[in-house]
Amino acid sequence: MAAPTEAAGRTGMWGTARGHGLQGLSNARATVPAMTLRDSFGFWLKVALPTWNKGILIRRRSMVRVSAGLDLDNAAVARMQALREAYGDGPVLIRNPIRPQALLLASSDVQRVLNQTPDPFSPASSEKRAALAHFEPHVSLISAGPERAERRAFNDQVLDSARPMHRLADGFRACAEQEVEALLHDIGPAPELTWANFIEAWSRMARRIILGDGARDDRALTDLLARLRGRANWAFMVPKRRGALEALQARLSTHLARGEPGSLAGLIATMRPGAAAAIADQVTHWLFAMEPAGITAMRALTLLAAHPAEAEKAQAEVSVIDNPGSDLPYLRACILETLRLYPTTPVILRQTTQETAWSNGTLPSGSGILIFVPYFQREEQRYPDAHRFRPITWLGLDPAHATPFIPFSGGPGICPAHNLVPLLAASFLAAIVRRYRVAVHQPVDLVSSGRLPGTLDHFRVRLGLG
Ligand code: HEM
Repeated sequence: MAAPTEAAGRTGMWGTARGHGLQGLSNARATVPAMTLRDSFGFWLKVALPTWNKGILIRRRSMVRVSAGLDLDNAAVARMQALREAYGDGPVLIRNPIRPQALLLASSDVQRVLNQTPDPFSPASSEKRAALAHFEPHVSLISAGPERAERRAFNDQVLDSARPMHRLADGFRACAEQEVEALLHDIGPAPELTWANFIEAWSRMARRIILGDGARDDRALTDLLARLRGRANWAFMVPKRRGALEALQARLSTHLARGEPGSLAGLIATMRPGAAAAIADQVTHWLFAMEPAGITAMRALTLLAAHPAEAEKAQAEVSVIDNPGSDLPYLRACILETLRLYPTTPVILRQTTQETAWSNGTLPSGSGILIFVPYFQREEQRYPDAHRFRPITWLGLDPAHATPFIPFSGGPGICPAHNLVPLLAASFLAAIVRRYRVAVHQPVDLVSSGRLPGTLDHFRVRLGLG
């Protein structure tokens, strides 16, 4: 790898000032430095490609398996650490023929970008727009200006973004209990939890919470959305399926029209959002994002099963909770710690809406900004137990003050379900650990080396309930 001085080239093709047509900026400070071609290639090969291969909008089972088998996620973090050593705090441009693309290496820059969303750092980046337009073309995440403001406010309002306990939390807890009970009934007397039976129950819960009991068994809705997400993984490389999108939205409208009390659809029915809120697209996003929440719940249960001392604490917590309104701080902490180790949104993208100044130069309007989350969350200097499961870290600690802890991003663009996800996942897990002790059947060697693997392949997890 080249030394920073050699790497800091500012002319030439592929990601430099001249390559991106910046030579016309009179009196402008130089653009931020670019990586060497070799480092850029290494980044695309070892960080970007494996992440993209696993599937951004819906995970590809075979690629997750490959990633786990070859330890590609750890290799990606190691590559990022090497880049930090070579280029210091950055940011640094990754050479490419399309547009200036900056990689952030310092947590202070991450904080700045997230805090200054959506302007000058818009979440509606070109690649995100190309992908999400397959199934939710008007979602807040890829909107701008007043439309974004209205859609974001709608999300915050219905999801009770700022409140640890959603106003419908009691009903959601009851729903989690019922769906876990149904799951345990279905899997019989020698129960084994697999991703297949876990996600079925989780999705039933998700549909009931979002759309009401009338959507409980509408598996076709989830399947239709999964097909569109599969195409969205290819972003602009495949054409959109208008017919499938219309079918999804028609199905969704029928459920929303019921406005069932006790569900998020029921809350929407009491509001008067304007047409610009594009309700169907926001609700589609909630249904989609419930799957990563389920993946996280499954992983958290697996980690608990592999850590008997932590599992004891979780059991102690659920055994003393008799009031459904009380919180589950330890189980919530388990969910946050799982998201630190295994963030389900590994890449946060932004696009600049104007020229921005940095400690080492400027970035023109329209530049891409890339934050690779696992690198920041497994940083050994910040987290002494970076590769271990330590839920206790999060007890009494506001995650917003633990930067760079960014599984939900942060600032004004933070996931509006950053409170709801831990609530639902903790409730679902409480219903399981209250009834059973959980043992890991697969993967057998999760903690054997004392260092958790970079990938936890949820598709292959098997948990025994005893
Ligand atoms: C493990 C579960 C989840 C994780 C890790 C997660 C993470 C994130 C992240 C990182 C973003 C920001 C993306 C960006 O800036 O490009 C985001 C946005 C968003 N999430 Fe989540 N999310 C999860 C589940 C959910 C759920 C269950 C819902 C809804 C019920 C939801 C609703 C949203 C919405 C509406 C946005 C867009 C916010 C905006 O436009 O500013 N998320 N989420």
